[in-house]
Amino acid sequence: MMASVFSHGLLLLAGLCALLPRTQTTDDEDPYDPSIGSWQCRKVALTICNVSISLFKELTQQSRDGNIFFSPISVVASILTLSLGAEGNDSQRILEALKLNKTGLSEAEIHKCFQYFLRATNQPAEMSPMISGSSVFIHQGLKLVDKSLKGIKDLYASEVISTNFRESSKAKAQINNHMMKKTKKEIGTMVKELKNDTFLALMNYIIWNGKIIRYYSCHFLRMEDFHVDHQKTIKVPMINNVGLFHLFRVRDLSSMVLVYTSPQVIPFTFFILPDHGKMHEVEQRLTYPDFRRMFQQFSLRTVKVQIPRLLVPETHGVESVVNLLGISPLFKKAAISSVAVEDTVQKSFKVVSKAMLTLDGKDISTSPSSCLKKDEWAAVPLFQLNRPFLIFAQERTNSIPLFLGRVAIPRR
Ligand SMILES: *[C@@H]1O[C@H](CO)[C@@H](O)[C@H](O)[C@H]1NC(C)=O
Ligand SMILES: *[C@@H]1O[C@H](CO)[C@@H](O)[C@H](O)[C@H]1NC(C)=O
Ligand SMILES: *[C@@H]1O[C@H](CO)[C@@H](O)[C@H](O)[C@H]1NC(C)=O
Ligand SMILES: *[C@@H]1O[C@H](CO)[C@@H](O)[C@H](O)[C@H]1NC(C)=O
Repeated sequence: MMASVFSHGLLLLAGLCALLPRTQTTDDEDPYDPSIGSWQCRKVALTICNVSISLFKELTQQSRDGNIFFSPISVVASILTLSLGAEGNDSQRILEALKLNKTGLSEAEIHKCFQYFLRATNQPAEMSPMISGSSVFIHQGLKLVDKSLKGIKDLYASEVISTNFRESSKAKAQINNHMMKKTKKEIGTMVKELKNDTFLALMNYIIWNGKIIRYYSCHFLRMEDFHVDHQKTIKVPMINNVGLFHLFRVRDLSSMVLVYTSPQVIPFTFFILPDHGKMHEVEQRLTYPDFRRMFQQFSLRTVKVQIPRLLVPETHGVESVVNLLGISPLFKKAAISSVAVEDTVQKSFKVVSKAMLTLDGKDISTSPSSCLKKDEWAAVPLFQLNRPFLIFAQERTNSIPLFLGRVAIPRR
């Protein structure tokens, strides 16, 4: 019965999507290419899934025990945004570093896939609790070259704003205020440091405000232990809930996996809870095909869950990701040729990608409840997300990797 309610929601959404007005662009012609869609772009999405798991592994080497959280789709979108300006075969080499040359699509088609993906992740607020966007700030007096300007606006739906970076603290305030307004105050600080010789700053964000769905009336919030490691335990607010989830063991990964499928459509969210002491091993063993295989283990059942209220905002300097991909010099060259600035004194650029996931229990009562102890739930399995876990959220129709990370501390 749940399944039918669910698919009805999806159909309704698909119907609504078709009715959506097209986003406004400055050009008369709508650059959106209807021949590019889920089917053509599937390989692009899956390739980014693969690449993002490799990047994640590298990041785990840099941060052994902290939170790691990023949005693969946003990070790659920001890299491709700047590669629009690349000259010669540089853009091809950037695509190769991202393994996107193996998709069988042309460079133009790959950019169009991103246009399609970004539309899919930024539906109007009343339809989806996920928002994303990007802005490009450029030093006053400088101009983007035509192909970059057009691509940034039309394909990456980004606005271009002129800023005086010489006065770097004012520029920083301008950027942070702008991004705060754009995200309705969800993002407070986008940039912490800004050099006064910056010529370009690209900011993108993706925010998902997840909600725990309630199939049954039994749910409440309570402070519970979260075991950060074998020595340290902290108290965190946990959402206690009884609901329908996919819950299964993945033996190869020594982990229990809970998959949260929200009727608010957007992602499949995988919570991977490694056995005690196995986190690092699981991180190194994980591959994207593991997730594909998990789909075969899906089976909805009633589960008692304890999930911490999550607030995981992470800001990524995309330069470090580009560095891991081994394309820093190419990327810098592409940024410079996007604005043709070789002869100015402005030499620095900044690319920031912010990913934020909340799973809030704000509207859930904190009054102690004994409903979970009721006999009717006695035989129902209990799943406690009470130690560090991995999280992967994937948009369901297009397989777009939205978020990936390790949650070592549920609230920052
Ligand atoms: C992803 O990687 C797996 C191996 O880890 C490979 O079999 C698969 O073809 C890759 N998919 C894409 C789209 O690159
Ligand atoms: C790109 O061009 C350079 C020089 O023009 C050449 O050495 C290099 O092999 C080319 N790379 C690719 C992938 O075509
Ligand atoms: C993609 O690029 C890689 C690395 O340069 C290369 O080995 C591979 O042959 C390329 N694949 C295709 C289909 O062009
Ligand atoms: C830019 O910042 C550097 C220090 O980081 C400072 O030495 C220099 O005077 C500044 N330039 C301007 C134009 O404010």
